[in-house]
Amino acid sequence: MSFSLTSFLQCPQTKSKNFELFENYLSFEDGTKYSFVDKIPVMLMPSMINQQEGLSFFENFYQTASEPWKYSQRAAECLRHDYVVEKVAQLTEKLGKKAKILDIGCSLGHITARLHPYAELIVAMDISLTAIQKARYHCLQSAHKKANIYHFVVGSATDLPFIDNFFDIVVASDGLHGWHLPQELQQKAAGEIYRVMYRQAYAIFTDYLHPRLHYKVSSILEKFPWQIECIELLYDRLWYQFESLLKAFKQYWWAQKWLASKKIALFLRSIAKNLGNNYSKHITAIVYKNES
Ligand SMILES: C[S@@+](CC[C@H](N)C(=O)[O-])C[C@H]1O[C@@H](n2cnc3c(N)ncnc32)[C@H](O)[C@@H]1O
Repeated sequence: MSFSLTSFLQCPQTKSKNFELFENYLSFEDGTKYSFVDKIPVMLMPSMINQQEGLSFFENFYQTASEPWKYSQRAAECLRHDYVVEKVAQLTEKLGKKAKILDIGCSLGHITARLHPYAELIVAMDISLTAIQKARYHCLQSAHKKANIYHFVVGSATDLPFIDNFFDIVVASDGLHGWHLPQELQQKAAGEIYRVMYRQAYAIFTDYLHPRLHYKVSSILEKFPWQIECIELLYDRLWYQFESLLKAFKQYWWAQKWLASKKIALFLRSIAKNLGNNYSKHITAIVYKNES
């Protein structure tokens, strides 16, 4: 089954669902219009464009750096991406079907590009148009024959441009906290995730913050009527300390090789696990919405 934009988009402002597609824009029945840029629907409300500092921050970041955060060269980040992909694989098995997946804040599509074996639809969304253009390139290169299951949308987690009860799995990887939102908007974003999840659906959260602040993530999640299935730590703090130690040497090939080494990252993880919860920068959570 293939999905068109009309199967899942809704106006983030008025919540209207019916729209007509034109060459350069889409127009909802109540008159609200959103443009296509490079064939990508830009579903940002005017108030977001003016008010959300994050929008210009992230867009500038993607325009000036080829790979912000250099995730693909940093082993702890690659292990985190592996973790999310493995969780998606396990959850689709639990669901017993290929999933409709939403990846919010998908960045360059490092995770998104690896999800096609588990999906019948993947919607990749980011607040940055540049990120989405790069993610599209990356995903379509990786997915080959499954390229038609991908859709790319610019939008904000705080006002998701999607209909209620639609997605089987929502990925918010380095999201809630990583989106640089004030507490009330983090909570709004979590509520939006709950809204777009199908009646029986999962969401995966990961966030990078000081261990003494991990409670902030769980306290937001606890506000919604999903079940918190598990909270896990990635025990990666020693790796980030190792990265700081190598900062002065990062132009040398050997330092880059060590930082990209999953073996070293796994070794540091095994030590960190023995040192306790204070040795994890990342906290992760899986939640299950089960509405009748
Ligand atoms: C820290 S990165 C995480 C990227 C990726 N999900 C990962 O796990 O590697 C956060 C991403 O979220 C995007 N972002 C920031 N604010 C957002 C918002 N309000 N809604 C959607 N995406 C947002 C940024 O542009 C960036 O690509």
